[in-house]
Amino acid sequence: MAGQTKIRTMQLEDLDAVLEIEKEAFKDSTWTIEAYTRELVMNQFAHYFILEEDGNIVGYTGIWLVIDHCQVTTVAIKKSMRGKGYSHLLINHIKDFVRGQADTISLEVRVDNTPALALYEKSGFNYGGIRKNYYGEGLDAHVMWVNIDE
Ligand SMILES: CC(C)(COP(=O)(O)OP(=O)(O)OC[C@H]1O[C@@H](n2cnc3c(N)ncnc32)[C@H](O)[C@@H]1OP(=O)(O)O)[C@@H](O)C(=O)NCCC(=O)NCCS
Repeated sequence: MAGQTKIRTMQLEDLDAVLEIEKEAFKDSTWTIEAYTRELVMNQFAHYFILEEDGNIVGYTGIWLVIDHCQVTTVAIKKSMRGKGYSHLLINHIKDFVRGQADTISLEVRVDNTPALALYEKSGFNYGGIRKNYYGEGLDAHVMWVNIDE
């Protein structure tokens, strides 16, 4: 059974837990604690959110909100907490957060990331094209986008 969930702004104190989830979610991740710190402290366009279940950090997401466009930079859920609708909650939170400020949300997702593609399709995202070698040689990305009010 799902516990009590809460979504809140990411703080510097959360970064150890975030990096733990990051390591198991993205095995080739280049995101370090310094990179996250820069995002939280210096990037005026960045907004990062934590999902808690019963007070424990179980996932996170981030966006860049630049003028009227929102770009999702990351979404990850702790492995043992997947399949409970939690990333869907985070995507809905992003939509609520940017509504009235942005018209569209877009993101890149690896063409072989079946769970993420299914998540974004379920969240109303459309396919906008392929970025060749976006994640490195031979690792292409789908660009996906959604209108906020869909
Ligand atoms: C992708 C990810 C964020 C999904 O998180 P999740 O909380 O398990 O997803 P949810 O439970 O919210 O599922 C939402 C929808 O996504 C799809 N989905 C999620 N996991 C899936 C899987 N393993 N296989 C197929 N579809 C899946 C389904 O459509 C699901 O809706 P449904 O349960 O009604 O069918 C999670 O697997 C993850 O952290 N992966 C590693 C990091 C990553 O790839 N992030 C995305 C980068 S672009």
